[in-house]
Amino acid sequence: VSCVCPWWFTYTFDNPLRRLLHDPERLLSTYVSKGMRAADIGCGMGHFTIGLARLVGPSGRVCAVDLQSQQLARVRRRAARAGVEERVELVMATDRSLGLSGAFDFVLAFWMLHEAPSEENFFAEVHACMSPGAALLLAEPILHVTRARFDRSVAIARRQGFAADPVRPRVRLSRAALLIRTTD
Ligand SMILES: C[S@@+](CC[C@H](N)C(=O)[O-])C[C@H]1O[C@@H](n2cnc3c(N)ncnc32)[C@H](O)[C@@H]1O
Repeated sequence: VSCVCPWWFTYTFDNPLRRLLHDPERLLSTYVSKGMRAADIGCGMGHFTIGLARLVGPSGRVCAVDLQSQQLARVRRRAARAGVEERVELVMATDRSLGLSGAFDFVLAFWMLHEAPSEENFFAEVHACMSPGAALLLAEPILHVTRARFDRSVAIARRQGFAADPVRPRVRLSRAALLIRTTD
């Protein structure tokens, strides 16, 4: 898939400096608590997966989803180093399916939506695997995604059953929205 960020390129933004820019626990602690079931879609090398695993604690679970096996292999190693591998499930997505099932309490899609082949399908699929009232934090890179394109994505999410929180989360170098899965 030509528009997907190659696994080796993610080294350029997944390094210790990234923590200063996007501290996972600081960014996500408002939305995630102990015992939750969370998903990190387009997890890349797992920068946010490990933070999510710490936030959900030993009784919670995190599904790390990516199209690229190289990324998932890195997430596995990283989770083992951090001592959280038992809370992390790796899910290999395809172009046509994220491969997720279940009822997630929180979903993160960080800098990946612009790579997805269909935003309609993406939001429909994520909606189907979230608990009513659960939150999806969507963040897109400001350098790749214009405000107009981001607003279009939020409009698509609304058509697929999400309500956009009027307060947009502040995420560095990103356009972000908190999307709440409405009840059917
Ligand atoms: C730019 S990287 C961001 C990685 C990570 N979220 C982060 O912020 O460090 C985008 C990742 O999304 C993955 N991706 C792209 N399209 C996807 C899809 N349809 N399903 C699952 N993963 C996807 C890519 O393989 C890549 O690892």
